[in-house]
Amino acid sequence: MKRDLIDITDLSVQEIDRLITRAEDIIARPEEYREKCRSKKLATLFYEPSTRTRLSFESAMYELGGQVLGFSEAQSSSAMKGESVADTARTVSCFADIIAMRHPKEGAPLVASYKASVPVINAGDGGHHHPTQTLTDLLTIKQEKGRLDNLVIGCCGDLKFGRTVHSLIGAMSRYANIRFTLISPEELRVPESVRSDLLERGGIDFRETTSLEEAMPELDILYMTRVQRERFFNEDDYVRLKDSYILTPDKLRTAKHDLAILHPLPRVNEISTAIDDDPRACYFRQVLYGKFIRMALILMLLEVE
Ligand code: NCD
Repeated sequence: MKRDLIDITDLSVQEIDRLITRAEDIIARPEEYREKCRSKKLATLFYEPSTRTRLSFESAMYELGGQVLGFSEAQSSSAMKGESVADTARTVSCFADIIAMRHPKEGAPLVASYKASVPVINAGDGGHHHPTQTLTDLLTIKQEKGRLDNLVIGCCGDLKFGRTVHSLIGAMSRYANIRFTLISPEELRVPESVRSDLLERGGIDFRETTSLEEAMPELDILYMTRVQRERFFNEDDYVRLKDSYILTPDKLRTAKHDLAILHPLPRVNEISTAIDDDPRACYFRQVLYGKFIRMALILMLLEVE
């Protein structure tokens, strides 16, 4: 039976750990993987803007010896003629061995997975989830901190619409002794579903605050996020909230020396470029890890040994 990746909890902790081990092997021995997907094709169906996610999927497939087809905007696809996601998924299954789909509507990749005869990967659905960013984040944390347990994780910014945070909480909640500090303006706190289904039901230790300064000293990981302008109902609210948190060298004075600063990117204004060369800034290394973990994921879903 084919496997899809729609929600990060579609993967067990053991499977995630195996993906990380595989990605680490790819980093160590890339030449072993150059032919693994020869004659396989990945379709990237992106109905929403993307730089990293789409290009890292494509570069992952090329580095495995495979090929890539697809579209990077809805306007150039038959969606403009009114075709449903379900029909597009069925169609693309005739051309590709695996599909990565990004869509502004929550649940669209899930619908696609029902109709596609090949594995479907959710590359971000609205304000919902973004499981491959989370795999990227986990590989980053493992590489930078050497562990995925015993961590205090601060998530800062737009925790309401930021899909990467929702998936990150879903994944990290399953490791031992994880504490979350959720730092956001009142209006951008995590949605009720994340709070009740992932945090409260899982008995996870978490607290909410509006102050980054107050949270900083205890953090092992600081996961910064962009305020998700495209998901706001009105521009005034966006303008009022967009600069709620700006990480500057000054704010890092009370941080741990081995803090790891992550950001899924794109950054708008929430991290000063003055921090980019601080050894604690992991966000550009994180981009590269994203390619390796997507290589591992493609191999797993295509059942390539
Ligand atoms: C994120 C996304 O698309 O959700 N970007 C990404 O995939 N790296 C974060 C964002 O857009 O803010």
